[in-house]
Amino acid sequence: MTDTLDIALPKGRLGEKVIRLLGEAGLGAAGLSGESRRLVLESGDGSLRFFWVKPADVPIYVERGAADIGVAGRDVLLELGADVYELMDLGLGRCRMCVAGPEGALGRAGVLRVATKFPAIATRHFQGEGRAIDIIKLNGSIELAPILGLSDVIVDIVETGTTLRENELVVLEEILPISARLIANKAAFRFKHPRVEALTAALAGILGGEKPC
Ligand code: PRP
Repeated sequence: MTDTLDIALPKGRLGEKVIRLLGEAGLGAAGLSGESRRLVLESGDGSLRFFWVKPADVPIYVERGAADIGVAGRDVLLELGADVYELMDLGLGRCRMCVAGPEGALGRAGVLRVATKFPAIATRHFQGEGRAIDIIKLNGSIELAPILGLSDVIVDIVETGTTLRENELVVLEEILPISARLIANKAAFRFKHPRVEALTAALAGILGGEKPC
């Protein structure tokens, strides 16, 4: 089918929430589950094809047209600066991008050492404050960095705040609110417009209060 919509979904916590939302909107596919090791799944009528990728890779698949549509966190979109359309705030995976660390860590004189998975967001934030920083790019367990003296502060996602609390760290500054966005490849948005519109309308019907971006 030429007008199959290819949809990139983020593996993991956010992906589970997206599956539930798609199911409620009548857009799921049999066997679509985060636990499945099958990477590509089609809906019964072949109109939708889903595939699982690492959350940070969703915008890359969509920008380059390997997927028509995707679901990505605002954190990942801002970090990559992906050239895609943001169609809708899905209101899922709500959290905050924050500067965190031991109490008073921002008062430290000199260059601030910042550990993060989000170097572009962190750099923009501290540039805006005119603060000199040294970025230490890590890939996970960011909270360990100030505990072990690898960094002064971190820039990271805070959802419930449990990880910070359990490690005696605090939010020092809030940078951005984050939530998951439905995104589209720019060419697919034009050439598959009726299909994209039907999908967004079905999701909007479920979400009700969520506003388009
Ligand atoms: C994220 C984030 C924090 C934690 C915040 O990590 O990097 O560590 O969740 O959530 P909380 O405020 O509810 O505690 P994730 O679980 O994605 O794992 P990671 O350490 O591998 O990045």
